[in-house]
Amino acid sequence: MDIDKFYQDQLIKITQEAAISVYPHLGKNNKIAADEAATNSMRTNLNKMNIKGNIVIGEGEMDEAPMLYIGEKVGTKNGPELDIAVDPLEGTNFAAKNLPGAISVIAISNKNDLFHAPESYMEKISYPHGIDKSAIDLDFTLKKNLSNLADSKNKKFESLRICVLDRPRHKKIIDEAKSLNINVKLISDGDVSGALLVTEEKHNIDLFIGTGGGPEGVLAASALDAYDCGFQGRFIFDTDELKKRANKMGIKDFDKKYKLDEIIKGDSLFCASGITKGDLVNGLDLRNNKMFVNTLITHKSQNMKKIVTGEIDIIK
Ligand code: FBP
Repeated sequence: MDIDKFYQDQLIKITQEAAISVYPHLGKNNKIAADEAATNSMRTNLNKMNIKGNIVIGEGEMDEAPMLYIGEKVGTKNGPELDIAVDPLEGTNFAAKNLPGAISVIAISNKNDLFHAPESYMEKISYPHGIDKSAIDLDFTLKKNLSNLADSKNKKFESLRICVLDRPRHKKIIDEAKSLNINVKLISDGDVSGALLVTEEKHNIDLFIGTGGGPEGVLAASALDAYDCGFQGRFIFDTDELKKRANKMGIKDFDKKYKLDEIIKGDSLFCASGITKGDLVNGLDLRNNKMFVNTLITHKSQNMKKIVTGEIDIIK
């Protein structure tokens, strides 16, 4: 079933307002306060929606997150049953330090269409539209993935560019890219945006690869699906506690590589509003008591992928 177009404006408004709520916290070096403001705003607005919403990707497990925890029910309970994934403030460091790349993100699907998983890390790889899904794999070497990509895209191997989260755990990937003479865009945080850089030519990224947050992987998957891009993810359940939680959610194979259509099924809507200027969207811009907010919205069934700018009156 397609999700009503009516929800597009509602979701845009939700991430816009969550983004604006972070504005007073920019550069104050307080990640927790910034995250709390965004989460509070998002939760308040989700609870006004006429939906039976179930948070499947949220701020954490019920015992550790007071708001928007996994399993929390949101909405007025009048309306369709929807699964909801949220990251009210993606890039808490960016917001705390007023650095580029902070966004507020949400994705919705029909009930049971978004992957339910505990908070864990995830190995992920994303790649552009039009590439044979068997050509790219988390278990291939970087060289093999890139030569398959070069063949599919009819591009020169050396002209390919990859995006990787700058972490010591990615040394092997970064060293291999260097030895292959491949240009690497290193990002210090924010791998929802990183994974989405393969969606449009203008970003000049052919492959995103590495390990980051599982929730961020699921959120990115929803937008990648609307762009018909490729994605593979493998959760890292490396403690007994995580395995127990995963098992409770119905996950039996802890090493499974998930394809896009196993993480997000059917229709979905995704919104990311800019807080500080980033690769995907511009940051908040306050002029003459008006806040201009840039939002990327995708709606799979409507084949919609666009950036809208909202103009919101700020009362002083
Ligand atoms: P937060 O906004 O929760 O701080 O996450 C930022 C982020 O960079 C994500 O985009 C990424 O998936 C994750 O952290 C990586 O985790 P780590 O910093 O532990 O490597």
